[in-house]
Amino acid sequence: MSTVSVGLAGEAEVPACLALLPEARHSPAEFLIARHDGRLAGAAAVIWQSWAKPGGFPLRVHVMPAMRRQGVGRRLMAEAVGMTAGEAEGLWSLEPEPLESPAAAFLQACGFGLARRQHHFQASGEALDGAIAPLVARLRARGRIPAEARVVSLSEAPMEEVGWLVSAEFGGGPFRTLHNLRQRATRQGVSTEDLSQVVLLGTKVAAVLLGRMDHGVAVIDARVVAPDARGDWAGALQLDAILRWGLPRGVREFRFHCDDDVRDTLSLARRCNAREVAKTGLFYYALSAA
Ligand SMILES: CC(C)(COP(=O)(O)OP(=O)(O)OC[C@H]1O[C@@H](n2cnc3c(N)ncnc32)[C@H](O)[C@@H]1OP(=O)(O)O)[C@@H](O)C(=O)NCCC(=O)NCCS
Repeated sequence: MSTVSVGLAGEAEVPACLALLPEARHSPAEFLIARHDGRLAGAAAVIWQSWAKPGGFPLRVHVMPAMRRQGVGRRLMAEAVGMTAGEAEGLWSLEPEPLESPAAAFLQACGFGLARRQHHFQASGEALDGAIAPLVARLRARGRIPAEARVVSLSEAPMEEVGWLVSAEFGGGPFRTLHNLRQRATRQGVSTEDLSQVVLLGTKVAAVLLGRMDHGVAVIDARVVAPDARGDWAGALQLDAILRWGLPRGVREFRFHCDDDVRDTLSLARRCNAREVAKTGLFYYALSAA
């Protein structure tokens, strides 16, 4: 009779777990490993660091394709819940998952609920420019854009300050964030070029836009405005900067996303006639309610 065993991964097993769960690299992760007749069947990573609100440790499960739909994922999840009970308020899915995906179905089958929903839009550069350029012109005319504001690329920006700002907004911890940012800043090539822009106010970071090219489309992965620079100018300036970069280079399409409750971006999507191309979600499991 074949058997599946699930337990905490030993040091020698961590590389195999990381091969299944590369998203957990550079994070303070604990790994669980599932074996089927002694062979690797799957793994789970729990990032030992509370994240977002409500508080919770991010986690991801990966089961080898040949071993799926046999309860291995559920076993790994049950073990992860047991391991973190009393240590964290809950568990978050590590990455946003498409709402209609097997991953979302699995998380919900394991008792996770949809906690944050993101809308992904795609708009033509021309339409986006039609919404942003007049806004920036109006802000300039009213003197709302500080004279010392300037936009630089990520590689020219003070990386540690950018790392803290991005990590405070999205979680994941400053070390993992900094590692990801450094990798991003050195990315080159036609389809993966980094487009990230940082708005500086004097020497201070006022806003960060993380962006990249994806097969001819400019993708905005994240936008953050520093708490003391909130208002409309910094966000408008960073969008304007990416348009000024992309339009002269023939980039026709831009992709961006936001949570359900970010009215400015939802309204921008409406104003530039953007198409909604996907919906993703972050899922949460409350341990206290377990
Ligand atoms: C998602 C994943 C971890 C599921 O692992 P698994 O071992 O197949 O899951 P289980 O057999 O324990 O399934 C538990 C329940 O989840 C749901 N589920 C799992 N896979 C599903 C799928 N492909 N489609 C729909 N529902 C699914 C079902 O309700 C299932 O119960 P059932 O088989 O009794 O109907 C696996 O498909 C995988 O590794 N995918 C790639 C990585 C990933 O997407 N991870 C999820 C993010 S945490």
